[in-house]
Amino acid sequence: MAFIVTESCIKCKHTDCVEVCPVDCFYEGPNFLVIHPEECIDCALCEPECPVDAIFSEDELPEDQIDFIEINAELSEIWPNITEEKDQLPEANEYADIKDKKHLLEK
Ligand code: SF4
Ligand code: F3S
Repeated sequence: MAFIVTESCIKCKHTDCVEVCPVDCFYEGPNFLVIHPEECIDCALCEPECPVDAIFSEDELPEDQIDFIEINAELSEIWPNITEEKDQLPEANEYADIKDKKHLLEK
């Protein structure tokens, strides 16, 4: 079982989550972050850090976010590791409350 980054992160990418992960298992794309499911130790530290509530335990994942299990697994094999917090994306505030963003995910 792992934690999963979901749709709310797209076009926000606050990166507060990265700072607390004890095993550095976040990977970074242009406008989204993912968690490597085999590296995550299920510690739950990142979940409350996300300002847009994008992170869920796999067993508490909302029904409409199931696709993100595969998206995290696939992209964490391709994208580079990120271990330090950085500035949120410039459009983060504009997209904070927008829920339907999956089509905006850049790979
Ligand atoms: Fe890292 Fe823990 Fe979050 Fe997994 S649950 S991504 S190990 S902080
Ligand atoms: Fe994304 Fe939230 Fe982390 S917006 S980068 S999951 S703090």
